[in-house]
Amino acid sequence: MTRPRIYLTRNIPDPGIEILRNTGDLTIDEMNEETGPDRQRVLAGVREADVLVSLLTEPIDGEVMDANPNLLGIAQYAVGFNNIDVDAATERGLPVSNTPGVLSDTTADFAWTLLMASARMIPQGHNYTVANRYKIWGPNLLLGADISPGGSGEPKTLGIAGYGRIGRAVRKRASGFDMKIIAFDPYAPDSVFEEDGVERAETLDPLLEASDFISIHVLLNEETRHLFSTEEFSKMKSSAIIINTSRGPVIDEAALVTALKEGQIGGAGLDVYENEPAMAEGLTELDNVVLAPHIASATRDTRGKMASMAAENAVAHLEKRPAPNCVNPEVYETEAYQKRVKGS
Ligand code: DGY
Repeated sequence: MTRPRIYLTRNIPDPGIEILRNTGDLTIDEMNEETGPDRQRVLAGVREADVLVSLLTEPIDGEVMDANPNLLGIAQYAVGFNNIDVDAATERGLPVSNTPGVLSDTTADFAWTLLMASARMIPQGHNYTVANRYKIWGPNLLLGADISPGGSGEPKTLGIAGYGRIGRAVRKRASGFDMKIIAFDPYAPDSVFEEDGVERAETLDPLLEASDFISIHVLLNEETRHLFSTEEFSKMKSSAIIINTSRGPVIDEAALVTALKEGQIGGAGLDVYENEPAMAEGLTELDNVVLAPHIASATRDTRGKMASMAAENAVAHLEKRPAPNCVNPEVYETEAYQKRVKGS
């Protein structure tokens, strides 16, 4: 029996590699770990594969899918899948899977890491210290913002934009800081707000106006692209800190740089960028930002588990059974899918 062929666009942690190697002949595109495989290599890789394991760095569109009419599925190594044209996949009878759930806690931890680092100026303090500038304790040195009621005795408000798994995990971590929580998510049922005792914002505005900190946890789509832009920044408190661990294009990054420069808002903690890995002009020169290289889910355990989940999804695609984490399950009912699995 011929072994199935698996094409992985870039290397992933060992637990996933082991499953994939035990399943079939694995090709890992290792052309350039810094830039990832170029388009031609992805097309060639897909042409020679029965299943594609993709990373969020590679655009997977109709052209890639059409490179191989016998491809059985796309297993994305990430919870976010905005790099994949899922409608095009469904149209072509191609199941797409992702790795949800496992990274919710890890990502929520990191949103808090950025929030605390931004509020309490940790990178600034670190840079100051290692530059040997710490000569004497000072009452006015690196004055940050309270997260708990602190000196003012006033509870702070955390606004959560996008109240799914990760947004809720962020809320859970706020309880030790005695914060008020307000969340906006037009798609979450009332029950989750009631269960968590969280105020539901019917529109984004009340959240913008009330929050001392805003943490973003929405999916990227046409509705959420530039959800935060000039108008939204103008409605925020001038002391507010915005945290983004979702997808870069949710924030209009050029508008953010202006808002930060002009003191319309207080600070930003970012893990993702609009044109990643490029950053908007002026962003890296600001002293009220904390910037990270898209590492919110980057712990050894979580990235390992994401790898095994992606691999298990790939195995399901190869075995022509519903993948455990299929993002377009309606595909299994389509004629295009039936044709594809019969033809392979
Ligand atoms: C995801 O999974 O979508 C993150 O951005 C990377 O882990």
